[in-house]
Amino acid sequence: MQWWREARFGMFVHWGLYSGLAGTWEGKAVATKGGMEWIQQRVKADTGTYAQAALPLFQPTPGFAQEWAALAKAAGCRYLVFTTKHHDGFALHDSKAGDYHAGARLQRDLVREIVAAARQQGLRIGFYHSVIDWHHDQYAYAQSKQLPHPLKGLPYPNGGRDHAAYVGYLHRQVTELVSGYGPVDILWWDYSAQDFQGDAAWRAGELMALVRARQPAIIMNNRLYRTPEAGWAGMGTSGYLPRLEPRYGDFVTPEQHIPATGMPGVDWETCMTLNTTWGFSAHDHAWKSDETLVRTLIDIASKGGNYLLNIGPKGDGSVPAESVKSLRAIGAWMQVNGEAIYATQASPFDKPAWGRCTQKRLPDGGTRLYLHVFDWPADGKLVVPSATRLRGAKLLAGGARVAASQRGDTVTLTLPAQAPDPIASVVALDLDGPAGR
Ligand code: GLC
Repeated sequence: MQWWREARFGMFVHWGLYSGLAGTWEGKAVATKGGMEWIQQRVKADTGTYAQAALPLFQPTPGFAQEWAALAKAAGCRYLVFTTKHHDGFALHDSKAGDYHAGARLQRDLVREIVAAARQQGLRIGFYHSVIDWHHDQYAYAQSKQLPHPLKGLPYPNGGRDHAAYVGYLHRQVTELVSGYGPVDILWWDYSAQDFQGDAAWRAGELMALVRARQPAIIMNNRLYRTPEAGWAGMGTSGYLPRLEPRYGDFVTPEQHIPATGMPGVDWETCMTLNTTWGFSAHDHAWKSDETLVRTLIDIASKGGNYLLNIGPKGDGSVPAESVKSLRAIGAWMQVNGEAIYATQASPFDKPAWGRCTQKRLPDGGTRLYLHVFDWPADGKLVVPSATRLRGAKLLAGGARVAASQRGDTVTLTLPAQAPDPIASVVALDLDGPAGR
């Protein structure tokens, strides 16, 4: 897990047939908020009708993947997780199983193109893979009341369904993905319900075993299960528990949510959107500000978690201009302050009023605290609780020394009048030993 814990920041990519539809169905906007990667379910279209409308609009340009990888690198991301198959069931690789994949429909292996581009930029690779499938005609959707399906409540259009046949197909496609594209660093499953999960729904134990057998170093999330032992308190988007037994996965996955005090004792990663949808929508303009995005990255790191920030490219693979702008803004901040995020640990003290804190042990046994100042003090004074002997302090931007004094277990810093950065200015404070908690 070490590379992953040190990485702290990754790019999530939701891209597939739904991206060409862009949140529009029969000429009308389906919604201005919410996941448009779910459009097939939102309009209750069967897979044939959906594919007929979506396929013509899914025309990836030749170099689309290079743009993604370059953007992830420019943003300071260390890994890239993309949708090899989402709930609509369309697979982006050239598969020998079935015919609902890019090989059969576009004569391209989009997974191979994306993996190559990401490796070229030195990024670690993650495969998001949906176990839910709204295309496969043996996926027995009536067996779960909690999981979504466009035909939910309707009888199976093809009579009875042998779910085991679908699970066999799922295992075949996953085997192809972890056997044919070189080292894969992350498997990001999605998702299970309390009434449909684990071995009963996906033969999950076998699935994880076949992946580990072919990719011994791979990291997997906890979404093949929906039990407390796997970090789930329920179905809601705040139902996360700081608990994960190794056989259920390697990290917990809060979604659009940051645990108030982190999740001490488990590895966790918060995934979030730039607006309100994972898949591209032409109708969703609720873009988060650069300030919100940078401070969210800092907040998550200060609580010991990873941030997986999503982009939703269009049907041709191009990235919306607003997303490019936001990721470049994060990258500009990381250029100066990346040291205060990568390979750091959670704050040794509770959330200070002026911002957040991350820390890093120094090779000589000292500790460097990174004080991420959101609200630059008008009186130039910054107070930090620390009983550990002070060594010195400096601004990370430019390296200028910062005057510091210590009385008992309180350090007082005298800051220059002007904040180096309007979003978050980092002061590096060195202590002569472990920081107290
Ligand atoms: C939710 C959304 C799904 C998305 C996932 C990403 O489960 O329903 O569409 O892929 O979150 O975390």
